[in-house]
Amino acid sequence: MKLLLPILILFVFSEIAPRAGAQDHSNQPAKRDTAYDEIAQAPAKARAKRNPLESDPEAIAAGRALFEQHCQECHGRSAEGARRGPSLRAQEVQTAEPGAIFWILSNGVVRRGMPDWSKLPEPQRWELVCFIKSLGKKPG
Ligand code: HEC
Repeated sequence: MKLLLPILILFVFSEIAPRAGAQDHSNQPAKRDTAYDEIAQAPAKARAKRNPLESDPEAIAAGRALFEQHCQECHGRSAEGARRGPSLRAQEVQTAEPGAIFWILSNGVVRRGMPDWSKLPEPQRWELVCFIKSLGKKPG
């Protein structure tokens, strides 16, 4: 009998806590206008970073493979955008400095569903930048 009260309290809390969390989350998207606000916030120092793999002929293909592995489930097979993530062919991404894209990959927009990719070694993040940038250069 002594166990009953703690169990009851535990039960009530486990019912309430997730709902309170879910409510918080549903309030967030209204604060911002587009899916691309974050990349526009990249600090000047991050933007100024040069892509060390810019002229590496193999970087785009390597980036494509990484994209298929890590990103397409949210951003779509050809980065055109899908249910969970916005298009990476959009002007906001294509006109962003390579350093700004690198910054997004390194930090994510975690509260908005974009994971942080700092677990990928830096050269791989730059390969992804090369791939994303290549999408703006040719049709399809
Ligand atoms: C779990 C889903 C998910 C995965 C996996 C994912 N993304 Fe995203 N990504 C998002 C969402 C959601 C946004 C929009 C974030 C926002 O609203 O600011 C986003 C935004 C972006 C942006 C635009 C930045 C901005 O201003 O928001 C870039 C660039 C990007 N992702 C690249 C990538 C790359 C490259 C990968 C793979 C390494 C990747 N994403 C993997 C969900 C994902």
